[in-house]
Amino acid sequence: MPPPAPGPAAPVVLSLGGSILLTGEDDAGYLASLADLLRRAGGRYPLVVTTGGGRTARQYIRLGRDLGLTEVELDELGIDLTRLHARLLAARVGAPSPARPPTTVADAVHELRHASPVILGGTEPGHTTDGVAALVAARVRAARLVNATDVDGVYEEDPRTRPNARRIDSMSWEQFGEMVRSGTSTDAGQNFLFDRLGAATLARAGIPLLVVHGRDLANLEAALDGRPFRGTRVGPPGPPGA
Ligand code: UTP
Repeated sequence: MPPPAPGPAAPVVLSLGGSILLTGEDDAGYLASLADLLRRAGGRYPLVVTTGGGRTARQYIRLGRDLGLTEVELDELGIDLTRLHARLLAARVGAPSPARPPTTVADAVHELRHASPVILGGTEPGHTTDGVAALVAARVRAARLVNATDVDGVYEEDPRTRPNARRIDSMSWEQFGEMVRSGTSTDAGQNFLFDRLGAATLARAGIPLLVVHGRDLANLEAALDGRPFRGTRVGPPGPPGA
């Protein structure tokens, strides 16, 4: 008897931190290679990507705050900036990736029926693109959510100020949730590691979170594919190294 045909690949979600999209160091070269990677990976499994606003969003939010805008208005400013990054990346990825970023989780899930990768920014005030990525992941029952950021995993202390800090290879949702709660403020433009809504959503849905450095593209692709990677895995233990 022939082996059973493989079922459809489970979707994967990637949250790209704005801090790695625009660093001022060979951004065009990085974005071009990243777009190639997303096109490849999006052809292997349904892939949804969220793009953060990074320092560009923070600059506008600071300016808006000085002008007396409300926190909701500042969030909306941030959302527009994240969408600009989604549009930039989607334009480089090209078809079948939708050129106009979906503006809601429901629309992103709908687009994924006939296009991959689907790339979007923020949706509504009160959370960040990590939160959007987690909501999408829960809706599509993603195999994993990869958070690509400017550190290569979760550390016991901040590796930028403590060079000898130890990276944690694997941790529980309880440990991670505690770190997120103690480090996050709900003000616009403020986030530590991952947002609270995102962490709670993933923990409830039982979806693992993989934290990797977003500028190491070979390692990022390994994490997306479910292969062994360098970084931190949050959630129930997976196969060794993955
Ligand atoms: P980001 O997702 O970029 O947040 O959204 P961040 O924490 O600054 O993450 P990095 O540094 O890019 O990785 C920027 C801001 O836009 C607003 C929030 O104010 C957020 O801090 N935003 C974003 C929303 O209000 N809703 C969203 O769905 C997305």
